[in-house]
Amino acid sequence: MKMMTCMNVKEYMIAWLFMISILSLFYTCKSDPVQQENASIYLLDSTYVRVTPMASHLDVPWEITGGPNDEIWFTEQAGKVNKIDAESGHVKTLLTLPDLYRERTSGLLGMVVHPNMSETPYIFIAYSARKSDHVHVSRVVRYTYKTDTLINPLTILEYPAWKGHFGARVAIAPDGKLIVATGDGAQDENAQDIASPNGKILRFNVDGSIPSDNPFANSAVWAWGLRNPQGLAFSSKGILYNSDHGDATDDEVNMIQKGGNYGWPKIAGYVDTPEERLFAKDSILVPPLQAWTPTIAPAGLVYYTSAEIPEWKNTLLLAILKGNSLYALPLNKEGTKTDTVYHFFERAFGRIRAVYASPDGAVYIATSNRDWNPNGFAGDDDDRILQIKKVDKKAIKEEVALKAKAIHDGKETRSEGEVLYTNYCASCHKPNGRGLMGTYPALVQNKVVEGETTNFVNLVLNGKKEMPSFSFLSDHDMAIVLSYVRKKFASKRGQISQDDIKKNRANQ
Ligand code: HEC
Repeated sequence: MKMMTCMNVKEYMIAWLFMISILSLFYTCKSDPVQQENASIYLLDSTYVRVTPMASHLDVPWEITGGPNDEIWFTEQAGKVNKIDAESGHVKTLLTLPDLYRERTSGLLGMVVHPNMSETPYIFIAYSARKSDHVHVSRVVRYTYKTDTLINPLTILEYPAWKGHFGARVAIAPDGKLIVATGDGAQDENAQDIASPNGKILRFNVDGSIPSDNPFANSAVWAWGLRNPQGLAFSSKGILYNSDHGDATDDEVNMIQKGGNYGWPKIAGYVDTPEERLFAKDSILVPPLQAWTPTIAPAGLVYYTSAEIPEWKNTLLLAILKGNSLYALPLNKEGTKTDTVYHFFERAFGRIRAVYASPDGAVYIATSNRDWNPNGFAGDDDDRILQIKKVDKKAIKEEVALKAKAIHDGKETRSEGEVLYTNYCASCHKPNGRGLMGTYPALVQNKVVEGETTNFVNLVLNGKKEMPSFSFLSDHDMAIVLSYVRKKFASKRGQISQDDIKKNRANQ
């Protein structure tokens, strides 16, 4: 106040103008360029990247891949093959499937554009089709590309759609062969049955014929024992990797070998139970590169080879649905081992279904927040395709970059019960216990949860139809998660003890 009395009016005005200009300078610094509309800057380890939405309001983008002239092509589960037009940036639809069968996880899934389009102008898609009201099939179909149209469909493979676990991805091998990863159809027995195309890695010539050097004469089977593979990628050395959804345990990333057996349904993840050891004795089994329990729901997979983002060079990038992240699995020099897993963009964009690395070193991911099993993350503009591209450090201000890498410092703020529930139950019954209408029953005011303890314990130990068995959980963990469910969703009922679990296990 004293100071003001010393100022005349002119000085006072100048002081104000000065303050306003300082403020506005501060404001523009903050909003430019980091808070540029719809883009954000993230720091990986030492590389800054800008994340920019390339397309939004999509109906479950399922695959992203490179088209001719470095275009970005993608599928929507709703039955559309699209590209992002290089000039306008708009989405252009090249094909809409007329006979799509879409229910829950079926629909248009994987796609690959042949890397040599000038000589072999083919694209391959994996989808499920409605043959009649009662007959659904899964297919791999080749289309020929001609000036932004897809013509002359040729069915490479048609197989039963069954009821679920549709997979599916397609890839072109360095030797020009077509590789297909198929789901077991939610029929466990298919995966170990060499006569069934379900639960397999299959290998074809691009005309649909069977290569003469496949492991079984006149069979497309290249490897088997898979459950629901949604990721397929070749490294620059030509090694084939895939990702596979486990049941209640053991999601996997595998290195695929000719004639390899990946174990499902006899073996989940590593060979670590007495039954698994017995089965493994008589089979040539290939253990996973990585396995995850609790499950994470791994989907799209790509090998990153560019020097553009050094922290990702020679890593597998894995799109994670349930875990809401992009995982990076650094490989050893030979590409045969991976010891560490880094989590990027955890919970930043929700469920991630697909990932693609373009030749210029940019990475593209597709969100899956409006698919059949959403976990409540969907934003107004979901689902989206996001571009992750390196930016020069000088062009940005460090303090406004968001950290992309999750740091697991072991400090868990949630209760043990909430963690177990989140890891093992929430993907189906949802964090709020309200389930998914017609598919996953609500646990809130549920007769089984509120009812007799033996019945509740047995149901979770044994599973029922689509509800997996949780007998692998220890008595301690089981008591904690079931007590949590009761307390949270049916507050009137008593707690469940380890003895309750022990007794029920003994009576089975
Ligand atoms: C993969 C999805 C899935 C997961 C994970 C899952 N459940 Fe379920 N659950 C189901 C389905 C589907 C049903 C209905 C089974 C039926 O009756 O056909 C069900 C049924 C139940 C029921 C009986 C409800 C009723 O009305 O009959 C209880 C209780 C239950 N689950 C608890 C749990 C608990 C606790 C966990 C975690 C330890 C869990 N579930 C994990 C899918 C799942």
